[in-house]
Amino acid sequence: MPPVSSPSVTQPPPAEAVTPLIRGLDVLRRLTDADGTLALAELARATGLARSTVDRICATLAHLGFVRLDGRDASLAPPLMAVANAYLDALRVPELLGPLADRLADDLDESVSLAVPDGPDIRFVHQVLRRRALSISFRVGDTLPGDGSAPGLVFRDGVPLAVDDQLVEPGLIAVAAPVRGPGGAVVCAVSVVSHTSRHGVASLRAAVRGALETCVAEMESVLADPPPLTGPRPGPRSVGAAGAGGAGLAEIVSLARGLSVLTCFDAAHPAMTLSEIAGRTGLARATARRALLTYQHLGHVEQNGRTFRLTPRVLALGCAPLSRTTLPRIAAPHLAALSERLGESVGLSVPDGEWVRCTARVTPRRVMSVDIGVGSRLPADATAAGRVLRGAPLPAPGLAVVDGPEDGLWSLAVPVRDLDGRTVSALDVTAHQGRGSADAWGDALRETGAAIDADLHVTARFVPVPVH
Ligand code: PHB
Repeated sequence: MPPVSSPSVTQPPPAEAVTPLIRGLDVLRRLTDADGTLALAELARATGLARSTVDRICATLAHLGFVRLDGRDASLAPPLMAVANAYLDALRVPELLGPLADRLADDLDESVSLAVPDGPDIRFVHQVLRRRALSISFRVGDTLPGDGSAPGLVFRDGVPLAVDDQLVEPGLIAVAAPVRGPGGAVVCAVSVVSHTSRHGVASLRAAVRGALETCVAEMESVLADPPPLTGPRPGPRSVGAAGAGGAGLAEIVSLARGLSVLTCFDAAHPAMTLSEIAGRTGLARATARRALLTYQHLGHVEQNGRTFRLTPRVLALGCAPLSRTTLPRIAAPHLAALSERLGESVGLSVPDGEWVRCTARVTPRRVMSVDIGVGSRLPADATAAGRVLRGAPLPAPGLAVVDGPEDGLWSLAVPVRDLDGRTVSALDVTAHQGRGSADAWGDALRETGAAIDADLHVTARFVPVPVH
């Protein structure tokens, strides 16, 4: 199913719009529409910019951590998810209604989603997928046409229940209902999604109606009396501009400033005046104003009286491709860098009964190398990864050192932790005895582990990330 791309902006930008920001956002949107990766030459063709300009923009975005450059390709990188998170946090719908949507999916054993209107389209802000042989794969950030989807019909027609009978895709059927805020306005639509192999639309409607009505009533009572904000939240992301590499400093600075205007929104600051935005970002009012004008022009920000808020179009900046990921994919560039740095085999594993199962591995090519393939299993007792995954007491903070898994090998491992601090995977280096040292390799492992944790945490804030 090709993603529906957002309508392109046809009005010329206002005179005060920030050109490097417009170009940087254009590159991010094109990468999003291409599901996360494009060759630089393709990006030049798609944006109509000179290849040298595209190279410079991508070097700037790479410097800021939002894009990864790999030979001729540019790919979206997890830190960009902070932009989507700012919108989703400010909206509060995933946080407040997500758990109720999850429960509905469990009760009905069907996929359930939450969507909001985005111009003529709808955009998903929460997805609970059931794994099935015939499975649909819309993710948070994906769009569907408003007049060709169940949530779209809910928003367009104001009906209490709308049906999608294979409007989007042959075999795909859905039933959607509006969820209203305390003022009576529709905040989002909740959909139950199934397949013609399981239901016809009439039987789906009959099967889900009661549970859907109950769920909507619960959602509306949560919206009417939302719980206070809890817990510390990541502050506005500060983006450094040191060590410019191939990118021009002025461009880095204006892109970094511009993006900090998006990431300064959160649940505690869903709508702000220009002065508040300038205060939270540390930007001069004039700078913040120009960034806001640029975003308004592109449809990422809307103004209501004196306050500005993010629109669902913010999710067109990377969200869907970055949510279609797994921990091994998030870790891959970090594993490659670590293997290169140590000149050894490094990998990730997860618990599997009395075993640990390898989920990712990068091994340098040489005559004698460690041969542990993805999917292979080793006894948990005999590996450092096994100790880490079992929470065994470790000789140094976060570091397990073990002989084995086979004679002549030794391994070192550190935990990879989810947002709640639970160990979900182990990162190891495994080498021939006599090579390396626990001290030097321990530091490298801990640094890499922290970098993988950070990418996992920013990605997994509002979307589930499978650990394998
Ligand atoms: C979905 O959540 O994947 C979904 C929802 C409503 C539709 C189609 C798909 O009409």
